[in-house]
Amino acid sequence: MDTSATEQSPKVTLLADYQQPAYLVDEALLQFDLDSAKTRVVSTLTMRKNPQGPEADCILDGEALTLVSLKLDGKKLEGSQFQRTTSQLLIPNLPDKFELEIITEIEPDQNTALEGLYYSGSILCTQCEAEGFRRITYYPDRPDVMSVFTVTIVADREKWPVMLSNGNMEDQGVFDDGRHWVRWHDPHPKPSYLFALVAGDLHVQQDSFTTQSGREVALRIYVDPENKHKCDHALTSLKQAMKWDEDTYGREYDLDVFMIVAVNDFNMGAMENKGLNIFNAACVLATPETATDDDFYTIQSIVAHEYFHNWSGNRVTCRDWFQLSLKEGFTVMRDQSFSADLNSAAVQRIDDVNGLRSMQFAEDAGPMAHPVRPDSYIEISNFYTVTIYEKGAEVVRMINTLVGDEEFRKGTDLYFDRHDGQAVTTDDFVKAIEDANAVDLSQFKRWYEQAGTPELTIDTNYDPIEHRFTLTVSQACPATPGQTTKQPFHIPLAVGLLDKSGTSLDMQLEGEAEPHHGDTRILSVTEASQTFEFINVSSEPLASVLRGFSAPVKLNYDLSNHQLAFLMVNDKDSFNRWDAGQKLIINILLELVADIQQNNQLVLSSLLVNQFERILTDKKLDPALVAKMLTLPTENYLAAQMTTPDVDAIHQAREFLKRNIAVSLKGLFNQTYEKLSIRKAYDFNADDMAMRSLKNVCLSYLVASGDPMQLQRCLRQMKQADNMTELLAGLRLMVDQSGLERENALRSFYEQWKQDRQVVDKWLAVQAASTLPDTLIRVKGLMKHEAFSIKNPNNVRALIGMFCRNNPVNFHAKDGSGYRFLVEQILVLDKLNPQVAARMLGALNSWRRYDEQRQQLMKQALESIAEQQDLSADVYEIVTKYLAAE
Ligand code: PHE
Ligand code: ZN
Repeated sequence: MDTSATEQSPKVTLLADYQQPAYLVDEALLQFDLDSAKTRVVSTLTMRKNPQGPEADCILDGEALTLVSLKLDGKKLEGSQFQRTTSQLLIPNLPDKFELEIITEIEPDQNTALEGLYYSGSILCTQCEAEGFRRITYYPDRPDVMSVFTVTIVADREKWPVMLSNGNMEDQGVFDDGRHWVRWHDPHPKPSYLFALVAGDLHVQQDSFTTQSGREVALRIYVDPENKHKCDHALTSLKQAMKWDEDTYGREYDLDVFMIVAVNDFNMGAMENKGLNIFNAACVLATPETATDDDFYTIQSIVAHEYFHNWSGNRVTCRDWFQLSLKEGFTVMRDQSFSADLNSAAVQRIDDVNGLRSMQFAEDAGPMAHPVRPDSYIEISNFYTVTIYEKGAEVVRMINTLVGDEEFRKGTDLYFDRHDGQAVTTDDFVKAIEDANAVDLSQFKRWYEQAGTPELTIDTNYDPIEHRFTLTVSQACPATPGQTTKQPFHIPLAVGLLDKSGTSLDMQLEGEAEPHHGDTRILSVTEASQTFEFINVSSEPLASVLRGFSAPVKLNYDLSNHQLAFLMVNDKDSFNRWDAGQKLIINILLELVADIQQNNQLVLSSLLVNQFERILTDKKLDPALVAKMLTLPTENYLAAQMTTPDVDAIHQAREFLKRNIAVSLKGLFNQTYEKLSIRKAYDFNADDMAMRSLKNVCLSYLVASGDPMQLQRCLRQMKQADNMTELLAGLRLMVDQSGLERENALRSFYEQWKQDRQVVDKWLAVQAASTLPDTLIRVKGLMKHEAFSIKNPNNVRALIGMFCRNNPVNFHAKDGSGYRFLVEQILVLDKLNPQVAARMLGALNSWRRYDEQRQQLMKQALESIAEQQDLSADVYEIVTKYLAAE
């Protein structure tokens, strides 16, 4: 390892070192005097010694703060009575009970990291999770210190007419000097990471919700006045979420008001601050003209996600940041089942699994692999990962599958009841489910402790004389950093048996008196290798396994292309129908890749075309599912299926397949496209969305057919579209076609939408994803465009993130230009916003899997970052872990 990097080695935090806090805060009174250059914070803390805590000095966290004064029980403390470092304030010899008054000053206009108090445009806002509160004032900034907050904000009335914080508004007034004040009180004790403050000239969109017990809650969305027409969808989604959480989990809202604020500059999607959620504008604002169906869908689920945190996260919170998945995994699982209930459950499951497989499996197979409950970190911001969120959600979902729906609800009731107002652990969560149902999940808990994606191997055998079907399941999990050997997992395996005609067969296990009724049953796999004997199986079955993706595992199950084709049209489980299709496509594509590498003539078997035709003409299938089934896996996902990814051959094979399917089924695509082109006003509902998605898939095949007439059709769709879904689908297809039409389409799109940030980000992203060879040059040009600012995370993600993450042929260009570009951007970003910089590094996660030449280039790229002085802890942690020996 590079020595300059070792010198700065930031400190590692270990789960094993956890200790209770030495002091607790019962009450926190905060007063803010807002000013762009120097905001003054007066914090008055009522504190006491923690009877369960260790004998230790009182330590408060604080970063980038100017300390103005410190008083203990009203008496000023001199410099000799406390110690200060760059990150802590230590006060020795404190009584058992005391009051501290801390006055600090902060500089919001200098804050580009978007943690603590910062500016987004003219709005002042905060972001405190995970450790941002320490950039506002000295405080025990850890989630197991929960306190009742009362917040007074004083500010210029013209500049900041609206001033918000958590809880209920208690009082307000005006001074004669042009300033005004407001006081907010949140009766629910909370950790500092849930604190929020917002001030600005904001428009408010109001609504209300009556809870199941009959209380009326005011709902308010605050936005820049220019966005006031974009709030309806979020408000509808919020009411849907509030109702769903009452119906499904018995959880009611607990304050008089629930507020959402939209800001343009935000590191993540949104934040669940108590009663005052702060959202990335892109994750809350929508109109049919400016947002796609996917945006509408995502907004609905993020609004719900943040709302659901009110119970899973806020009322019951995390003891320490190793427990992050306690709130995130559970809340993602809740928002996924909300979305499944409100839309198409099959499509929801396909999207969730697609995301998990393409992102989380890659993380689990790479140098940053970590358990759902990690045991060490350098920078906690780096652990807001797909493993904590998406795999964490799968883990909770498996618990639900194993115990059953009613039992799971009994368990969550006990969890919320038992731990209301507490900061707890993932063990506490599991214990509540166990206690409510008298089940044993001790082996299951390995899912929280062991990293890596388990691989299941399935072997089957049919004895036609005994009518016995044997299913053998073996499991293994690859080594991950710091974990060389793994214990067997407890895996719920959903299976069904199909006969030759596609009819479900009864499933009776050896020793059972009666067969199981229903298409699917759950097998509980606990051993490294385990055999299930099905008796009275009248004819040779085909087993459909891991239905609904019942566990986050990889499957080695050797089915022939014909068997996959059979399942693709016959499986009773929609998810497995889709999955069988994807596996068939992957088999075909990987064969094409091999042919390309060996310079063989490329030919396409008719099997896939035949199945596509059957699916396209199946009147009973949901068009949304048809669209999913006709969508080829991404180049990134294909790369993950190869020992050594060959980005160029993958791209070529995928283009070949798409073009040939398009040519073979052109008539059918044409017909389907026309049939779905009925002109009616946009509405966000599952049926219309399904039609638009299938229509756009058809258009993408038509364009892929190479027929120049189809480009005109694409342009016509763009011209006629009254919604962003159809407009953007057209533009996406145009950007891969070089020529004047492309340039015109891009130019007129920008002219039409340059006032709208959400749309401009799409315009940037579409160009960054173009497979044309000059894309990097264009991306560099766009960085100088008026539409781009490197300080805005959404711009960065749209342009740089899109190019590096979702444009494999160009990012992995053989000359290393893509890698060098990434390094340049990371070094600039690290000085401005370390969290965003560290995220961009994710593009190099799989560097060791590539060919020798690319590996060398990526290694050099990583080393040139590691070499820098003064790297942030965020980038330092990732770059050193990527470079560490395998
Ligand atoms: N807790 C937020 C969520 O998932 C995510 C977040 C983390 C936002 C850190 C900002 C900072 O709901
Ligand atoms: Zn969350």
